[in-house]
Amino acid sequence: MDRRIVVVGSSNTDMIIQVERIPRPGETILGGRFTIASGGKGANQAVAAARAGGRVTFIARVGEDMFGDQAVRGFLADGIDVTYVGRDKQAASGVALIFVAADGENSIGVASGANASLSPAEISAAAEIIGSAAVLVTQLETPLETVRAAVEIASSWDVPVILNPAPARPLDDDLLKLVTVLTPNETEAELLTGVKIAGPADAERAAEVLHGRGVRTVIVTLGSAGALVCGPDSRSLVPAFPVQPVDTTAAGDVFNGALATAMAEGKALPEAVRFAAAAAAISVTRLGAQPSAPKREEIDALLAGRH
Ligand code: RIB
Repeated sequence: MDRRIVVVGSSNTDMIIQVERIPRPGETILGGRFTIASGGKGANQAVAAARAGGRVTFIARVGEDMFGDQAVRGFLADGIDVTYVGRDKQAASGVALIFVAADGENSIGVASGANASLSPAEISAAAEIIGSAAVLVTQLETPLETVRAAVEIASSWDVPVILNPAPARPLDDDLLKLVTVLTPNETEAELLTGVKIAGPADAERAAEVLHGRGVRTVIVTLGSAGALVCGPDSRSLVPAFPVQPVDTTAAGDVFNGALATAMAEGKALPEAVRFAAAAAAISVTRLGAQPSAPKREEIDALLAGRH
């Protein structure tokens, strides 16, 4: 069987300004450093999966512009199959404006551009590759009907689905019951369940609500408090690797990409989550989304205590 990972999702160019703290509405802050880096939740997940050792096909849409060219060059450099990365003649490539504060926290606004026209028809055109994948990964930065089309195809072929429900938006039970692993952070879990999350006990309650709505396994990522893994009959808290954060942007994306690689390799869930947590920990020590995704050797070194 082809152990390929198929990622369906967004690609953006990130315009990053590092500031002492995130500006308040109406406030101007001076003194920040500016960086341009490749981003977009889908692309970050694809790159993270590839660098972690996975064979990746990315299904996405970028503009016929300089940013689109640069994004595709980056995917190819990471060995990602770009057969299904379409070029949009009308819409520009997606762009994100990101503030990163001195404590590593961020604030992001996205102009979706071509990501908003990734359609179910493009997913149907890739049905065969989705149906033969080891795992499908997707998130919510492209139209919901497109996400649904990908999840339905994967599920009809018994391909496990990782759905990272980011950015947060309501989801119906018909979609949730097709998801193998749902990976919300605290905010996303809260929006999906109405449970206010202040720690692992609340996350467990939120996971129970999501199980009731049909999701098989829920992994609530809790930042430095680790990741709570709730399967149908098991619960475990996988601790985070302690690191000094520089930029938390894309930590969740790197977690999901590395998780997909570990699942495609057949690792059991607790081990796969530890692998993903190690990759995410390394990513927060570096600035930028895709520049921060670690290579396999770095993840293995951290897991072996050699980082
Ligand atoms: O999750 C981080 C990503 O969110 C950034 O790369 C930005 O492009 C937005 O999509």
